[in-house]
Amino acid sequence: MSVQKLDFAEPFFEVEYVEDEEKYTCETKSLVFNLAERSGKSLYIKRIPVLPLKGTVAEGVVIEGIVRMLVVKNYDSFRLDDPKFVQRVKKTWKSLYECSGIERHKGIPYFKSPKARIGGDTEINFCFVSEPMAPSGPHRDHDRDFDEVHAQIRGFGKMQKFVENDTSTFYQESIMAPGVVHEKFYDEDGVYPWHQYHSLTPCIYMPIEIDR
Ligand SMILES: [Fe+2]
Repeated sequence: MSVQKLDFAEPFFEVEYVEDEEKYTCETKSLVFNLAERSGKSLYIKRIPVLPLKGTVAEGVVIEGIVRMLVVKNYDSFRLDDPKFVQRVKKTWKSLYECSGIERHKGIPYFKSPKARIGGDTEINFCFVSEPMAPSGPHRDHDRDFDEVHAQIRGFGKMQKFVENDTSTFYQESIMAPGVVHEKFYDEDGVYPWHQYHSLTPCIYMPIEIDR
């Protein structure tokens, strides 16, 4: 049983990881994500389930039956278009290209917080996209073998699928607002279609990578 403060998104966000707690009091307006994917256990808000790999916005409630949960407190307490915030993030977090060295990341307005490893098998981080309508670039493979989904933290974005490594072969997308986790894009064998994140407004999203 534990409530662990995570510092990966500081100084911008206060994040807590909660494991095996019967009750957790969520006082301030927060994003709550159920990360109990491997055990398949729901958590409950007023007896209504939040399924694994789903999220919600909650305030002033007791959350029950927690196996693995992430809480982002006061997630909307500042503006994403405040130039001071934008400058501070760009100084604090690395650009995606600095992190990956991948050519398709060169010059795109994506900035990544450090990663946190939680529950022994899951890695998360926050990614700030400073521009609206900015694609991250289609990809099918990742740097290691994980089950990947994305959660929206601030602003709006979408996850898109393509037949080939070419955005003109688009065939499906999921629109994301704060608290939304898109459905799985990987099949039973962990095979992904060509996919990308694409901002709609300046936004922050959270990749969730679970070891396969
Ligand atoms: Fe991906």
